[in-house]
Amino acid sequence: MIPRQFIRASAPVFRRNAFNAPRVSALRFYSNFKAEEQPRIRIGSTAPNFQADTTQGKIDFHEFIGNNWVVLFSHPADFTPVCTTELGAFAKLAPEFKERGVKMIGLSTEGVESHNDWIKDIEEVATDGAKFGYPIIADASKEVAFKYDMVTEEDFANINSGMVATVRSVFIIDPAKKVRLIMTYPASTGRNSAEVLRVIDALQLADSKGIATPIDWSVGEDVIIPPSVSNEDAKAKFGEFNELKSYLRTTKSPID
Ligand code: BEZ
Repeated sequence: MIPRQFIRASAPVFRRNAFNAPRVSALRFYSNFKAEEQPRIRIGSTAPNFQADTTQGKIDFHEFIGNNWVVLFSHPADFTPVCTTELGAFAKLAPEFKERGVKMIGLSTEGVESHNDWIKDIEEVATDGAKFGYPIIADASKEVAFKYDMVTEEDFANINSGMVATVRSVFIIDPAKKVRLIMTYPASTGRNSAEVLRVIDALQLADSKGIATPIDWSVGEDVIIPPSVSNEDAKAKFGEFNELKSYLRTTKSPID
């Protein structure tokens, strides 16, 4: 059922987007978001569910997650330069995400028609020939932007009165639908796709092998034995390890 605040109170209004981009098909929705009803998402929170239109059809987000890892990321607006490079980079990296059992899904507050037009541009200039394979949510109602707090202070103040440009949020969500990582970048700074993959590798290794990863870790490098593991158990589990301090022990990276 569509919540009351998302029911359109007037005929659709076709507008230009927040960056005066040339093609926009977002509908204006009259919303009634209340700050006190905004979910507080922390690491370990269940990812809020929603139903939405996307470039690959309607989804229920929890059904979309299914038994997979998911990267949900928002971008400020269609037909903007930084976003074009980001979405192209993620499209090129699709095989890497698939190998790790991760589904990607993007979002902005424009409509499906605008997203689909923009995808043609992205494929033309930013994917090195790769097909754009993941869905983009058309969050014209701003429900997802509100629930996941994907907005600036100023846009949050205006969220009930017009279109907002979402910030560059990244949520990594695990198959239990728990939020495992939250990153938020400002509109002017493109994200680092390699960092998103690095965190997924670190989280999946931590889950499967009970280790932690040090600063700037990347796949194959030594890992940290958590302080909760005794030396005796560490020896049994990991074999040799270095004890720099009683609380800082490193060992070769286990194979995932
Ligand atoms: C961009 O994606 O290019 C962009 C979006 C908002 C502000 C600045 C740049």
